[in-house]
Amino acid sequence: MNDRISMPLIPGDYAGLPPGAARCPGPSAQDIVARDENPPPPVLRESRYEFLGDADIDYRRYTSREHYEQEMTHVWAKTWQWACREEHIPQVGDYYVYEVGPHSVLVVRTESGIKAYYNSCLHRGTKLRPEEGMGSAQELRCPYHGWTWSLEGRLKSVPCAWDFPHVKPEAYSLPEVKVGLWGGFVFINLDENAPSLESYLEVLPEHFRDWDLGQRYTELHMGKVLPCNWKTGLEAFIESYHVLETHPQLLHGTGDANVQYDLYGDHVTRFYAVGGVNSPHLDKPLGEQELVNTMLIGDRSVVSDDLVVGEGETARIVMARFLRKILGEKYATDLSGVSDAEMIDTIEYHLFPNMILFPGVSLPMVYRFRPLGMEPERCLFEILFLRPVPDSGQQPDPPEMVLVGEEESYSVVPGLDPVLARVYDQDTANLRSQQLGFKASKKAGQTLGNYQEARIRHFERTVDRYLARAAAAK
Ligand code: FES
Ligand SMILES: [Fe+2]
Repeated sequence: MNDRISMPLIPGDYAGLPPGAARCPGPSAQDIVARDENPPPPVLRESRYEFLGDADIDYRRYTSREHYEQEMTHVWAKTWQWACREEHIPQVGDYYVYEVGPHSVLVVRTESGIKAYYNSCLHRGTKLRPEEGMGSAQELRCPYHGWTWSLEGRLKSVPCAWDFPHVKPEAYSLPEVKVGLWGGFVFINLDENAPSLESYLEVLPEHFRDWDLGQRYTELHMGKVLPCNWKTGLEAFIESYHVLETHPQLLHGTGDANVQYDLYGDHVTRFYAVGGVNSPHLDKPLGEQELVNTMLIGDRSVVSDDLVVGEGETARIVMARFLRKILGEKYATDLSGVSDAEMIDTIEYHLFPNMILFPGVSLPMVYRFRPLGMEPERCLFEILFLRPVPDSGQQPDPPEMVLVGEEESYSVVPGLDPVLARVYDQDTANLRSQQLGFKASKKAGQTLGNYQEARIRHFERTVDRYLARAAAAK
């Protein structure tokens, strides 16, 4: 690309700084937001990074069945995972089946609150509900021989009960799975000795105090099976380093190389990408008005005096003001108190193991990467768009997931912005090739950037910590 600035390409040119201390030349995310008209909230003004080492990450973590089985037992059966939104099960009797690897959990709204059960009959093991998804029932009846439980999990009836004198109803209640609620999400944890969800969430409740995701509704839910390990998929979405090569169309309007990466406790990391600016890679940066014009590339129909950059203004200020107005009208909610950053930036939190949350208003996604069955090299990638509940409180029912075929473009999803569909297509195209490349490699592992790929290292370190804890407990 001839419009990119010439930066030194050989890593050794930056020798001399302590590892992890180098940053992309140019303004930082914090320098940029300091000029905003409506400044970001304090949680976006802090940064937290530490150097975690620079050893390669072994490819077998992504390909080996043994490693996968270890994760199933020591990560997926031990961690809090978002199963569904509360809006999926609004009435008593509504349920949602959540599946991850071989695990299957039946989440049910009951008179006494939300409960979750192992989705397996106590007679001969049949799944009480055959597959992932939502439904409604007044009792939980096994489709094989008809054993039936109340929503509260108590055994109600056994056909031909005379043949089962050894079945004492009090010993045959459905075994429960721990449930926690946060931000409109229903979390489950298969470990009966798990710490509370609140402590597991670390800084999230504090950071999201003014980003109440409980006041959002699901506008769009799509999924795609990816031919890669769940960690391969997730790791493509927690760094911005690939934007330069994979999404060159985003360079006008995205501060890709000056993204801020933050590492919190074991379970939470963040990146903060400022929008409405030039990529530091561009040789000929655009002027502020040109940036505004370029950012509208997805919607040329919008022409407005509101999009003129006034004296002393930046593209960020103008775009935030504009989006505040049109999204406020579209979703019938007052966005006047929302900062420029929350309106236009990409603010992304990762909650271990597989949840990625975007609290921003114009990019309001949640991602989830789930292992499928016992296949180490396949996963389900889901994307939800969570929009603000209108001030009237009226919200549509959550949609069923639109499943995009493995070879299909995201552009088939009704209501998905074509600009975003292209970005997701570009991302997923890399993943098959990367997963195959792991196995074709002479080299034993991946080499990460100290700063831009720090979240990947942090994430893999947490996987290791869970596996090590299990080994220590033996
Ligand atoms: S396996 Fe469920 S009733 Fe027989
Ligand atoms: Fe991407």
